Amino acid sequence: MCGIIGLLKLNESDSGIHDIVEGLKRLEYRGYDSWGYASINSSGIVMEKKIGRITKATFNHPASIIIGHTRWATHGNVTEANAHPHLDCNNQIAIVHNGIIENYLELREQLIKEGHTFKSQTDSEVVTHLFEKLQGDLFERAKQIAPMLRGSFSLVIMDARYSDQLVAIKNESPLAIGIAEKEAIFASDPLAFIDQTDDAIFLTEGDIALAKKSGNKITFEFFNYLTNNSVTKQSTKLDWKNQKIELGEYKHYMLKEIVEQPVVMRQGMNLDSAQDLANEMHNKKVIAIGCGTARHSAVIGKHILNKIAKFPLEVMMAHEFSYFVDEIDKDTVILAVSQSGETADVMECVRKAKKRGLKIISIVNVPSSSLARDSNKVFYTNCGPEIAVASTKAFSNQILAFYLIAFALSGEIKKQKIESVIGMLDKNISYFDLKAREIAEYLKNKVHVYILGKGVNFPIALEGALKLKEISYIHAEGMPSGELKHGTLALIEHGVPVILICPTDYTYHDSISNGLETKARGAYLIGISDKPHPSFNMWIQLPELSKEDEILYPLLETIPLQLIAYYTALALGRDVDKPRNLAKSVTVK
Ligand code: F6R
Repeated sequence: MCGIIGLLKLNESDSGIHDIVEGLKRLEYRGYDSWGYASINSSGIVMEKKIGRITKATFNHPASIIIGHTRWATHGNVTEANAHPHLDCNNQIAIVHNGIIENYLELREQLIKEGHTFKSQTDSEVVTHLFEKLQGDLFERAKQIAPMLRGSFSLVIMDARYSDQLVAIKNESPLAIGIAEKEAIFASDPLAFIDQTDDAIFLTEGDIALAKKSGNKITFEFFNYLTNNSVTKQSTKLDWKNQKIELGEYKHYMLKEIVEQPVVMRQGMNLDSAQDLANEMHNKKVIAIGCGTARHSAVIGKHILNKIAKFPLEVMMAHEFSYFVDEIDKDTVILAVSQSGETADVMECVRKAKKRGLKIISIVNVPSSSLARDSNKVFYTNCGPEIAVASTKAFSNQILAFYLIAFALSGEIKKQKIESVIGMLDKNISYFDLKAREIAEYLKNKVHVYILGKGVNFPIALEGALKLKEISYIHAEGMPSGELKHGTLALIEHGVPVILICPTDYTYHDSISNGLETKARGAYLIGISDKPHPSFNMWIQLPELSKEDEILYPLLETIPLQLIAYYTALALGRDVDKPRNLAKSVTVK
């Protein structure tokens, strides 16, 4: 994953290093085990690297050229040496890298034979030594080096001998350039330059970009090493509406993002886009792909489309899709679901599907993302930036998108029904909060938690378990309750918490029976339902829906589970917004 940034200013400024660190903080969601930056001053490259969260830069000299990095370790432990930037043997060239250089071992071996000394265990460091080895200006060297690299990479490179320019290379990992009046900012995500400009150029696969000071302006040159041609690039105006990322009164982004869901859901009622996607799907075979939470929403979508529109949706994990793509009928439509629109596994599916000639439609949150740009039609979930690593509001709006698409396919968009459920969330959110705190007190001392559901409630159970384990580190398993007696029941003993999602829908009676089976073996049963049951040790009461609207229960079940995960993690003193080992945008395979 990792976030990279590079700044070229027309004039030296005292605030350059500070700006880079602020930009890095906005990219911290991409990785947060270590960070660093490098700038050029009169004596050469000045660099600082640190382990842990981004704090403040120690140096503050006037600078016009600075690069920075926030890391999620792939190759090499979390150490200062492995943090970026990486320097060449003469401390003249510095690079930052996001992605994986697959052929780094052979390149490294060759460079060591040629006398280069490596200071880190990373794959990235080979790039800086390749720049050291070759001759020519930065742009020329980038053109020679890019084709030598295999894998996914976005790179920003600076050279103290060329202190009027920055060069960048992009293949598969995202990279944008913010164009302001007197500066150019390269970044993995335009969010990094939200304060500087709304003008951006998005690099595409194989692009090499040179930004250079030229008189009183910064000029750009582009070359594509995959097509071996010079290219011209147009800038796009970014819409920063709804892109604010203030924490406000909340202790954590996760809590803020859970609580704001009713508002965000109203923002996500994108009926025209739902109709557009429905038109693309009509009479077609559709395969939805996604990872983690986004895949759970697609599995819920499968149930929703089936119940509301009798539409059969196939769902695949994005990382499994490549094993099937060659056999997929050419008329099939791929529906990619992703908050970030940058997940490497999803983007690889999209590339492979496109190569096979398949149409891509998507449900995506980040409007400027690679997925949004690579799709034939997009439903924007319109949640605004989701900062907490654990996805919450994006999930609810992905489900919402599936309801709207299902209604569009069925020919009757029941907008008021959805609005009325959102109103119920408004009314119940404080109650859910209270109950979740009580349940968290019980869960916080437990080692295992089982979350059960049937039909459309099963993927909600999967999502509830994912939330709990990723931020509290308690082992949690989401299960179809009907599967229990085929093995997992052996793990139920006295006091083991079982959360049973059992609204009074088409799954109710079977779910209750399965809950009773766990209770008979000593389980501590926590019911999430509109109806009480004597077997429940604790109960979160959902608002009741009519028989006709029962398929909408998932919209009500999600927030209680998210809050249970939040308060359990909080009670255990976890770093709720930035859980260990994870990053928000998974841009490596
Ligand atoms: C879990 C979570 C992840 C993401 C997954 C896909 O809370 O956030 O499971 O859902 O990494 O990310 P996107 O949706 O950005 O493709």
